[in-house]
Amino acid sequence: MDAKILLLNGSPRGKKSNTLLAANALIEGIQEVTGYGLQTLETNTLQVSPCRGCFNCWDVTPGQCVIRDDMQTVYEAATAAEMIVVSFPIYFFGMPGPVKTVTDRMIPMMRAYDGGPILHRVRPAMQDKRFLFVSTCGFHTTQGIYDPLRAQLKAIFEEQVPPLVTIPQAELMQVPQMKDIVNHRLEQVKAFGKQFAEGKTDEALLAEIASPLILERAYHRLVKMMRPET
Ligand SMILES: Cc1cc2nc3c(=O)[nH]c(=O)nc-3n(C[C@H](O)[C@H](O)[C@H](O)COP(=O)(O)O)c2cc1C
Repeated sequence: MDAKILLLNGSPRGKKSNTLLAANALIEGIQEVTGYGLQTLETNTLQVSPCRGCFNCWDVTPGQCVIRDDMQTVYEAATAAEMIVVSFPIYFFGMPGPVKTVTDRMIPMMRAYDGGPILHRVRPAMQDKRFLFVSTCGFHTTQGIYDPLRAQLKAIFEEQVPPLVTIPQAELMQVPQMKDIVNHRLEQVKAFGKQFAEGKTDEALLAEIASPLILERAYHRLVKMMRPET
């Protein structure tokens, strides 16, 4: 089965990742519709150096980065994929460092800025990819938390801003008593994955997925029990 779905997993927490639960549900939905194979790359275990800003990938060897590291695997996987799911926990209102490092290193896949209306046109190898972002946060609501990331994605992708699936109160995913509530939310996420595969984006469903799972007060009480201050 061709790996036409690439999952870039940006949580450092391995199988304990809240966000990975959501990403898996999304991918399950996509696969139910498409039957596509999956390749997963973990940004925290890949050896990827920061971009050196040398612009050799634009000026000297167009499309080729001078740094030889695991980023070559990312370029190959991204080129082969039809859909790229980028999954990460929100860290200080943005993407975690290793995800940003991989993002910066995607610059060889962009054409140099040419003064046109679009900041960066992608090279042919990255054309027509469908991106989907998924993230969880620890705050009781997604309101305000995702504004900086949303603005960043809007600026990067310009005309084709990918959907961003967000889930608040993600600590609940670690609480066995909350299993039913969490599973219901994951079913909604899976439904969104199916819609995405069919080329649809249901904003109402995205808003429902981004809504609090339980009351704010109850969530605070639970979090305090899970992480009592010392
Ligand atoms: C360094 C760090 C920064 C974080 N920053 C935020 C934040 O700005 N807003 C928020 O709601 N949660 C924040 N969190 C909580 C995580 O986003 C949340 O626990 C998430 O569900 C973890 O996902 P994971 O299990 O997939 O790694 C932060 C956690 C860490 C470790």
